[in-house]
Amino acid sequence: MNEYILVCVAWPYAKSSTHVGQIVGAYLPADTFARYHRMAGNHVLMLSGSDEHGTPILVDAEREGISPKDFTARYHREICEVWQRLGISWDIYTETGTANHYRITQDFFLTLYDKGYIFKDTMESPYCPTDHRFLPDRYIEGTCPNCGYPAARGDQCDNCGHTLDPIDLIDPKCRLCGSKTSKLEIRTTEHFFLDLPKLQEPLMEWLSKEKDHWRTNTLGFALNWLKEGLRPRAITRDLDWGVPIPLEGYEDKRIYVWFDAVIGYFSASVEWAEKQGTPEAWKTWWVPEQTHPAVKSYYFIGKDNIPFHTIIWPSMLIGYGNRNLPYDIPANEFMTMSGAKASASRGNVIWTRDMLDRYGADALRYYLSATAPEGRDSDFTFEELIRRNNDELVATYGNAVHRTLSFLQSKFDGVVPKPQALREADREILAEVERGFGLVGRNIALCHFKEGLNAAMAVAHAANRYLDEQAPWKQIKTDREAAGTTLYVMLQVISGLRILFYPYLPFSSQKLHHYLGFAGDVSNAHWRLERVPADIKLPIPAPLFPKLEEPVTV
Ligand code: MF3
Ligand code: ZN
Repeated sequence: MNEYILVCVAWPYAKSSTHVGQIVGAYLPADTFARYHRMAGNHVLMLSGSDEHGTPILVDAEREGISPKDFTARYHREICEVWQRLGISWDIYTETGTANHYRITQDFFLTLYDKGYIFKDTMESPYCPTDHRFLPDRYIEGTCPNCGYPAARGDQCDNCGHTLDPIDLIDPKCRLCGSKTSKLEIRTTEHFFLDLPKLQEPLMEWLSKEKDHWRTNTLGFALNWLKEGLRPRAITRDLDWGVPIPLEGYEDKRIYVWFDAVIGYFSASVEWAEKQGTPEAWKTWWVPEQTHPAVKSYYFIGKDNIPFHTIIWPSMLIGYGNRNLPYDIPANEFMTMSGAKASASRGNVIWTRDMLDRYGADALRYYLSATAPEGRDSDFTFEELIRRNNDELVATYGNAVHRTLSFLQSKFDGVVPKPQALREADREILAEVERGFGLVGRNIALCHFKEGLNAAMAVAHAANRYLDEQAPWKQIKTDREAAGTTLYVMLQVISGLRILFYPYLPFSSQKLHHYLGFAGDVSNAHWRLERVPADIKLPIPAPLFPKLEEPVTV
């Protein structure tokens, strides 16, 4: 195959630990996708990092009375720990606070400025006379002019998803002092703007070409936005936290968080190349002339990030110069928590860390993959997590594996039997596994992760049916050789399941890899059915998945 697959994943704000909504929205599908492509023999670069700038972080750090740097360092550490435990297989996970990222962001800014895609202008901005400061983005709150949501922020409405200008908010309030003693003023301030109208045409041309594989929502959103006509966007702020503007006279302003964050996809590639001792290697991923075959870039995000990935980042790339534009942006919808929108103030946010403590990585990965909000919202409940774990993971996949391996131990002393000539049913189940490789692989490559998982589970179902029909526990009473052949075939089938489930459930696949006598790391295996040879002795297995108890309330 040897395709080049760039897997870009949204940069989480370093302002909290990660919650399951983020995992199911972006990180898990990205990881499943990357693991599959590596096994299929493609080149993969999977990257992201912690997003450390922006006013939400400043507001929270100020509230705690610590520096934004200390504040983000704490959460960067916590986030990295979750990646480790959840098995998110980054090629690089970095942060926007690196010198490399600052340098590249400034270069990006200057290049766009020199090419005339960034211009200087004045704007009206809300100013709080109590706090003596401008109130960019999340420092201000008010009613959304678009949908009427009362707690919209200065940069975006969390309810309708529209990006906003603070000046448009109805009945705006300062979030620091609540505007209790004095009303907000509107003052004039100088800023830099991304000249989106200049980029509208090439952007439209790109968006109108070969987008059949995009999810309808994502494409619809982007096209609608374009139809309304793009307006210039301020990309600097009156703040002292963020990437400095690389021009003299703007020391008290910084580059807007979203402008630098999307550049992270590019700067992280440069850092990755540097770190692995091939400093030019990033060019393979970003400079089309140097790229053969063409790189396909995928951006895994939640739907709230669609505008920045379909409009702003592609515009920036076009303006910067002929870079590799997104091939697909498989944005997910939202996952509600027992029917309600997850929110810190409601207290119904489910932290990934707690779920890992309680259920382990693969039970969580399985449930989230099986209920992902692909194409429409979905709902998280503890009951469903437990039911699916017990009825599907344990009862189907785990059962096929465990029945096979424990029968091998009890009747064949753990030694893989030599098969006789294969019977019709044997050939059929093996063919089913072979078909599974095509089906699961194709679905994952199309970002249809739920369908891919269903296809893998269908093979596990077929394996159980085959085992029930052959009933080696009966065969062995009259024909030990026939039982041996059944067992041999089942071992090949579960060797196949080990790979088919690997992108979703890497930890269990690693265990099974070992139980089947394969050495080393399962990630070095290939996307195909690798045979377990006859006559080797296999180790004594433990069940792949524990049965879970009914939940205690959180
Ligand atoms: N930090 C942003 C969020 O959590 C996402 C940034 S994605 C990137 O919504 F494109 F900017 F990297
Ligand atoms: Zn104030």
